[in-house]
Amino acid sequence: MQSAEQRAQWGSRWGFILAAAGSAVGLGNIWRFPYVTGENGGAAFVVVYLACVLLIGLPLLWNELAIGRAGGRDAVNSFLAIRPRTGFAITGVFCLLCCFLVLSYYGVIAGWTVGYAFTSLTRRHTEFGQFAADPKWVIPLFGVFMLMTILIVHGGVQKGIERWSKLLMPALLAMAVLVILRSLTLPGAMAGVEYYLRPDFSKINGSVLITALGQALFSLSVGWGLMITYASYVKKDQNLVSSGFWVVITDTAVAILGGFMVFPAVFAFGMKPDAGTALTFKTLPAVFEQMPAGNLVGCVFFLLLMVAALTSSISMLEVPVAWLLDDRKLSRNVASWGVGLLAFAIGIPSALSAGGSKWLTEVKFLGKTGFLDIMDLLVGTLLIVLIALLCSVFTGYVWKPANAVEELASGCPGFKKPFLGSVSLAGIWSVFVRYVCPIVIGFILVNLVADLAGKKLF
Ligand code: ALA
Repeated sequence: MQSAEQRAQWGSRWGFILAAAGSAVGLGNIWRFPYVTGENGGAAFVVVYLACVLLIGLPLLWNELAIGRAGGRDAVNSFLAIRPRTGFAITGVFCLLCCFLVLSYYGVIAGWTVGYAFTSLTRRHTEFGQFAADPKWVIPLFGVFMLMTILIVHGGVQKGIERWSKLLMPALLAMAVLVILRSLTLPGAMAGVEYYLRPDFSKINGSVLITALGQALFSLSVGWGLMITYASYVKKDQNLVSSGFWVVITDTAVAILGGFMVFPAVFAFGMKPDAGTALTFKTLPAVFEQMPAGNLVGCVFFLLLMVAALTSSISMLEVPVAWLLDDRKLSRNVASWGVGLLAFAIGIPSALSAGGSKWLTEVKFLGKTGFLDIMDLLVGTLLIVLIALLCSVFTGYVWKPANAVEELASGCPGFKKPFLGSVSLAGIWSVFVRYVCPIVIGFILVNLVADLAGKKLF
């Protein structure tokens, strides 16, 4: 067995925070969050989303960080190291599957962003339907993106993931500020700001709640085993509590900023904010075409999306790679190329499901049409919610919150200190991880499954 000493570790606390924030900040923030907000009523959705992040996302993120550092191994073996023979290693197996399968279609969408960065810059008008249906474009672009992902993961934890995250995350923030400044200074932009910031609470219903929670887990990278794997490279004296908090702040800030990039520009040009997944690839390019210096703004926007996707995709590849290193004793070279190329091959049907293949585009399952959308429902939504539930049940009832609290308090003694009578942050967190999170997520999962079976529960 490989000893803990031989395992890779982050070079610095900020290196870990930037890598974990990079994993969290992704297409989920800049592509998914604005269109989900647009479809679910604007500001009211944002309020529900923020509540989900704070009450469910943050406690579960801390939970995964505790599991990862206490286990000190990959997603599967961390569960085994903490509580062997409890059957919870299956949660780790789900994590490997989830990351590998999401990577296979996430890379396809990221490939589109690479293509759009070029077409925006060269002012080449691109009709999304034609572009996404053309395998001559989408497959090589998907390949280029996967190649970048593999090369970074191949570089290792410190020299690959940490080094690139330190470079790419500040670049991402700088690009975001640039796009927002352009978007907000357009005539008529304030209508978009108002839509985004003035909540109409009558819009909140059960489905808004479910969507908001799903979006929070997807965006924070909670329920994937990503944080378990990244935390297994963290030293014992580092403060996981504040690191987790920074990850949540960064991820939420970028999601909110994503809305400020999109809505002012969309409203300034009289477009509709509820175009769904097409908002980024159809509505926005039309907006950029009409904007002064729109080719540059468009290019920066799509590069920003690509960078955000890259810091997330490397974390998705790292989860199965870490397992192959820890458990199967493969070299990083073989593991990163092997899994990366396999994810590329498995992603081809997703790449062909936006028009490239008639069957893959029209296939229907559980109300979704197209292979990529079906994968996103089964893996990117259902499996993530299931993993999040299993992780909270594991800590709440098998490992026990008191043990997880000890792990989190190592490096953060303040976590256990009472701040009001006998109430401490650790005490509040224990209640959330044992009761609030499993109940709320279990409820959402039952509703999701009932909904898919055609029975509306609420
Ligand atoms: N959390 C990553 C995202 O938001 C996967 O895209």
